Amino acid sequence: MAEPRVVVYPGSFDPLTLGHEDIARRCLRFADKLIVAVARTATQQKDRLFSVEERVAMIEECFTDEPRVEVAEFSGLLVDFCRKIGAQIVVRGLRAVSDFEYEFQMALMNRSLWPELEMVFMAPAGKYTFLSASLVREVASLGGDISRFVSPPVLRRLEERIDH
Ligand code: PNS
Repeated sequence: MAEPRVVVYPGSFDPLTLGHEDIARRCLRFADKLIVAVARTATQQKDRLFSVEERVAMIEECFTDEPRVEVAEFSGLLVDFCRKIGAQIVVRGLRAVSDFEYEFQMALMNRSLWPELEMVFMAPAGKYTFLSASLVREVASLGGDISRFVSPPVLRRLEERIDH
């Protein structure tokens, strides 16, 4: 029997948006197992809202319906994490041309660190192309309605965290 195809979907996910969730569910069309991997070390430093542990818990709550999704956290290099768990495919979402340069640079750096790794870029549903975790954080912190942009478990924690 062929080896199960393990795919890693890494990111900061602070918090997981419906755009991220859309990409993850699309991955299940070709992945036997999808590991949503929350990075402790992100290339672009941002203001953090949730701890890595909180992000992992929220993502788990969003995928309770999907036994093929596992959530993990990792420190250090993405390539080392992938090597350790035996995954050779990494997926990243591409929303717009503006994402391209950063993603392309990371893909080529990752490949130079570990040539066995393939990076796969996926487009989310068109309705999510403007969505980002940083905008969700900002709109939520300023009292805007973000219920259309995140799943109920994420909304609940955002409401708890940002108490107006
Ligand atoms: O959601 P983000 O912040 O755009 O995700 C970026 C992430 C976490 C995938 C990237 O920063 C990463 O892979 N970090 C782990 C450390 C690492 O491997 N750095 C070298 C990247 S070429």
